Order: sequence, then C-alpha cells, then structure tokens
Amino acid sequence: MKIADTGCALREILKTAPRPCVLVPTMGAFHPGHISLMLRAREIAGPLGTVIVSIFVNPIQFDRAADLAAYPRPMESDLAACEAQGVDIAFAPDASSMYFPDRSITVTENLLSRGLCGATRHGHFDGVCTVVLKLFLLSGCEVAVFGEKDFQQLAIIRRMVRDLDLPVEIDSCPTVREPDGLAMSSRNTRLSPEQRADAPRIRQALLAAATLASVEEILISARAAIEFSPFARVDYLSLVDAESLQAISCMERPAILATAVFYGDVRLIDHVALSPLGSASA
Ligand code: PAF
Repeated sequence: MKIADTGCALREILKTAPRPCVLVPTMGAFHPGHISLMLRAREIAGPLGTVIVSIFVNPIQFDRAADLAAYPRPMESDLAACEAQGVDIAFAPDASSMYFPDRSITVTENLLSRGLCGATRHGHFDGVCTVVLKLFLLSGCEVAVFGEKDFQQLAIIRRMVRDLDLPVEIDSCPTVREPDGLAMSSRNTRLSPEQRADAPRIRQALLAAATLASVEEILISARAAIEFSPFARVDYLSLVDAESLQAISCMERPAILATAVFYGDVRLIDHVALSPLGSASA
C-alpha cells in the first residue's frame, strides 16, 4: 500500500495507478461500516483497479470546536486496517496541505442541506461538499463509495455531482449496526457505558413509530420514546420526503424518519425509510 500525505504526492502516485480508481472518502477511526465501504470499493475496482481511501478529519465541516478536537484520530490502526483490506493508496493529508490559510471558495448546496442536520450544524454541508469535491479532483476517481447512514450527506453529494456535471459515479453501502441495533459510528466510542447501553433506543423508537399511520402520531411517538431516556436529548426529529428531503404532512410517497440525538456532547444520527404502506426499512 502506498501512502500519500499531500495532494501532489497523491497525483504523483496516481500517474501509474491502474484504472478504474475507486475512492472511499473517510475521516478515519474505522469501524466495520468503513470496512464495508472498502470491500465494496474493491468489488467495483476489481482485483486490478485502484482503491483509494482518504483519511482526513475535515476541519471546515465541524460547527463545534469541541467536536473537532474530540474526534478520534487512530491513524496507525486506520492505516493497518487499510493495508489488511488490500487498499492500494491511503491518502492522509493534514489540514494545512488541504487548505490555504486564505482560501475563499466554498461549495454550497442550497436546498437539500437546509433541514435535518443542516438546520443545526451551520456550514456543515458546505464543508462536506467542498472537501468531497477536492477529493474527487485530487484522486480523479471514476467511482466514490459513501455510507447510507449519512443519508442527507449522500443525497447532497449526488446532487452536487448532478448539478456540477462531475464525472464521478456515486455508490453507497447500507448502515452497519451493532448486534443491539445501534448504528456504527466513530462517535460511539465516546459514549459512557450508561449512554451506550441506552443508545439502541434511537433505532427502536424509529422502527416502532414507523408502524403508525399518521405523520403526527409517528413524530410524537418517536420523540416520546427517545426522550423517555434520562440521557438522550433530541436535536431534531423529522419526517421528510425521501427525494426532496422536505418535511411532509401526509404519507403519500416514500419518506424518511430521521433523527439526531445528543448523549452529553456526543451527537448520534439514525433514520428509517418508510413506504406509504407503512413498512420500515434501512
Ligand atoms: O462521512 C464522512 O466521513 C465525511 O463527511 C466525508 C464524506 C469523508 C467528508 O469529510
């Protein structure tokens, strides 16, 4: 495995890299969800293609300095995991090689990023779009693989690719869960044992509410089930159209019930997809 720590070094390595190039953009602190993205990337690239994993805790997508500071950065074990998965190139730049101190261009998405996580995390998706576009340009990848857990991020990246005519195909992998249903996240390691034991209620609340008939019942029931916890604080809980991500008032089309929940200062997200007939998935 080759390791590049600047964009220039990556471009140099890529001069002789066999195509296709498949990129897995990450912020490191790998869990089995990330491994599933790497496996999918290899499947797409084939045995002879090039799998690139970027590991970069992108400072411009954090709205809270404390969250950025606390984000885990186990670089050595992340690189070992890439090696073990047969990744061809690990791209692990530091912030100063990714951003000029006087950078003045940002990519902004103006519709899908307004609600859900975007409503409370100001500038978050601008930071995500900007870094993902830079990673696409630096890697020249034909395909990039993202996790479906961050479904709003995935929808926004697909929109960016569509609206900016980017020559990159977006592929995705389902959320990987702990045996008790909690969505795997690099943030789970920051939960106290009591918070960790309580956190599966998020998924249980969403699944139970998804069986109800009306939008009002769904929202009231899911919120009550989460807030019954002595630890959890709901950041948002929304039922949105699966395509436009706008809030809905009746169940006529595929929808997504999504939430972000704080346990102390650890913010966890999860969602379930709902069909108009009342079944939940994802
Ligand atoms: O999902 C993530 O880990 C990040 O938002 C991404 C896509 C790597 C951009 O920094």
